[in-house]
Amino acid sequence: MTTRYRVEYALKSHRRDQLIEWIKGLLAVPFVLHSQPTTIQQEHNERLAEVAHDTHQRYAEIFRDVEGLLNDHIEHERSEAAGKSKLRLLVPPVGTFFTRLYLEEAFKYQDKQRFISRRRFVAPSFNDVRLILNSAQLLGLVRTKGLQLVTFDGDVTLYDDGACLAADSPVIPRILRLLRQNIKVAIVTAAGYTEAAKYYERLQGLLDVLHDSTDLTDDQRSGLIVMGGESNYLFQYDSSSPHKLTYVPREKWLLPEMMSWDEEDVKKLLDIAESSLRACVANLSLPVSVLRKDRAVGVYPQIKGQLHREQLEETVLVVQNTVERSEAGSRLPFCAFNGGNDVFIDIGDKSWGVRACQRYFGGIQPARTLHVGDQFLSAGANDFKARLASTTAWIASPAETVQLLDELDDLQHSTAN
Ligand code: IMP
Ligand code: MG
Repeated sequence: MTTRYRVEYALKSHRRDQLIEWIKGLLAVPFVLHSQPTTIQQEHNERLAEVAHDTHQRYAEIFRDVEGLLNDHIEHERSEAAGKSKLRLLVPPVGTFFTRLYLEEAFKYQDKQRFISRRRFVAPSFNDVRLILNSAQLLGLVRTKGLQLVTFDGDVTLYDDGACLAADSPVIPRILRLLRQNIKVAIVTAAGYTEAAKYYERLQGLLDVLHDSTDLTDDQRSGLIVMGGESNYLFQYDSSSPHKLTYVPREKWLLPEMMSWDEEDVKKLLDIAESSLRACVANLSLPVSVLRKDRAVGVYPQIKGQLHREQLEETVLVVQNTVERSEAGSRLPFCAFNGGNDVFIDIGDKSWGVRACQRYFGGIQPARTLHVGDQFLSAGANDFKARLASTTAWIASPAETVQLLDELDDLQHSTAN
């Protein structure tokens, strides 16, 4: 491994989101200056409310200023001078924003939910900022061009890791609500299978409920697609098929650039990834089996939970680094990620998956697409790449996905009125 990787691992920068960390740092100042836990006993309620009000104002000002910097960054990107934006200087890895982010308003909303400025001992956290960014993104989507496509990751986003979407899952009526609003829905998952039967097994609850629903048109139902293996297999909802999904041949949806992906390179890349995985298995004595598919290779343990985080992360970073330095790896996009219990390397990534869904539905713009996922760290996480193709929301559990979709619905109603 190169020195850079070792240093990065040591500092764990790949386990931190730079924009969120930076915002947290800004909020730490008013938190320290305004919250005085030592005097809490002497204060009566009136004083507490006053301090909370003051802290709220300071936090809101910070979010207003960051929102201004984001707007400036968007302007610089439009004029193709992104490198000169002040935000880029402050947070170098910051990417592209497809819509405005209404941060001040989002903070005010989340402060009402989470009482952030009332806290005296716990500073604004990673999760506070993550949820504020999600709310700001939803506002940006409904206030600018309007939402046309929501893409969902599978594991951890729609169901628990490795689980299936059961018919009583609360996310199902929310997905149906989107379809009823003529918003397209794609499940963009790493889980890569060539047969509809396998996806039916994982998504049966949703597919059966959709089949039995009486208030959706056929057009609205066929607004549900599944993109498997990150960007490798496309299926569309189809009531007449035994597994309610029909395979869409690649020539019907591949992006022009994807057509030039050479099958020889695919094989070479997976060979390199596989031998690198096998070297990790030997080196770290991993209790796993190796699984080679036509567009992916991975390792998974015999018993769930047998691998610890350090083993998973080491394996991802070693394989990613090895493939990156290979010739096939320089010609083909790939995604190496830690699936929580396993490590997989897929051909392509979710930026290609989301773009292909946008194109399949007639060319939906990034500013009208939202990808919801749980893996947004810069290394070893597979939703991260979707940021290149669409706006994103970073959730931490299926319950948060439900909350996010309800928040979206509330916003759509309040914007329409
Ligand atoms: P996601 O969270 O929906 O993207 O699903 C990721 C999980 O799918 C991985 O952690 C694996 O357990 C599983 N999986 C099954 N087949 C594949 C494959 O071909 N590539 C990557 N992951 C796969
Ligand atoms: Mg996931």
